[in-house]
Amino acid sequence: MAILEGRVAIVTGAGRGIGKEEAIELARNGAKVVINDVGAHFDGTGADHTPSQQVADEIKAFGGEAVVNYESVSDFAGAKRIIECALDTFGELHIVVNNAGILRDRMIFNMAEEDFDAVINVHLKGTFNVSRHACAYFREANKAGKDLQPRIINTASDAGLLGNPGQANYGAAKAGIATMSIVIDMEMSRYGVACNCIAPLARTRLTVDATPSTAAIMGQTFEGDFDPFHPKHIAPLVAYLGSVEAGSIHGQVFRVGAGTVWGMQGWHSVAKISKKGFLTVEELSKRMQEELLPKLPPKEEITAVFTEIQF
Ligand SMILES: NC(=O)c1ccc[n+]([C@@H]2O[C@H](COP(=O)([O-])OP(=O)(O)OC[C@H]3O[C@@H](n4cnc5c(N)ncnc54)[C@H](O)[C@@H]3O)[C@@H](O)[C@H]2O)c1
Repeated sequence: MAILEGRVAIVTGAGRGIGKEEAIELARNGAKVVINDVGAHFDGTGADHTPSQQVADEIKAFGGEAVVNYESVSDFAGAKRIIECALDTFGELHIVVNNAGILRDRMIFNMAEEDFDAVINVHLKGTFNVSRHACAYFREANKAGKDLQPRIINTASDAGLLGNPGQANYGAAKAGIATMSIVIDMEMSRYGVACNCIAPLARTRLTVDATPSTAAIMGQTFEGDFDPFHPKHIAPLVAYLGSVEAGSIHGQVFRVGAGTVWGMQGWHSVAKISKKGFLTVEELSKRMQEELLPKLPPKEEITAVFTEIQF
């Protein structure tokens, strides 16, 4: 039996890129899938229903089940309708993949308020909106005695975990999503839910058209069978995390891409200075320089990952 047989999934932003491959992989593994996408340009403007319809058609062509939904994840009431779409069409909901995304890169001193708000609204608030309505449903279902084994898979980014110049809006949203995933898991595991988060690496319009720093590496073409940045590399992990079998995995963040899965760890203390009493400015000045700062490991840069990938 396929690993997701009988399960119903929502993938937001499933019309293109990573979300498209995730939706297809979920369907290939037996899930019925809601293909949610507004069909926006990478900056969030515009709306086109064609890409999501094509993904649904592709799934139906191999015998899978899919329905399209064009709600914006940024809209709280619209996000509820995405959940209702799954319930009305397929009668149940087990898996939510929050993947929809846009970019509006600017240095902090040039970033318009609108560019900050738009990115936060799609990523951080969108992830909240869809998760919030899904969790209300999962909690009620659990109380009613249903053993749904729900899974939420959110989408962060190295830009949020490590930081990236030009992406104060996006990085803040993605860091927030990683932490929100941990909090959702803490709150919802008692209702049978497992919530985890991925930080993907893939060639899409976000990494090629919208981000010059990654375009040089990710935009290149690869000879032979192994294309390290094909968005198909992301999808199997998402399908696995959506399965009943993955129920022991809680509140984790995995970087994924290029045939590799990395276990990521967030903020944790790595060194300290302390004293039984008040640390004065003079003591801090001396002891931070001499004892604390030398013990801090160098900061990992966002492009360092490219040196780890087997090309
Ligand atoms: N490509 C990468 O290497 C990479 C790296 C880190 C994180 N990510 C994240 O992965 C996710 C997918 O990105 P992608 O690279 O496939 O980009 P993409 O532009 O190919 O796909 C994003 C999709 O989200 C949809 N979308 C945008 N706003 C929406 C809204 N309000 N409601 C519903 N749908 C909406 C778009 O129409 C688009 O189809 C994003 O969250 C992105 O931030 C991607």
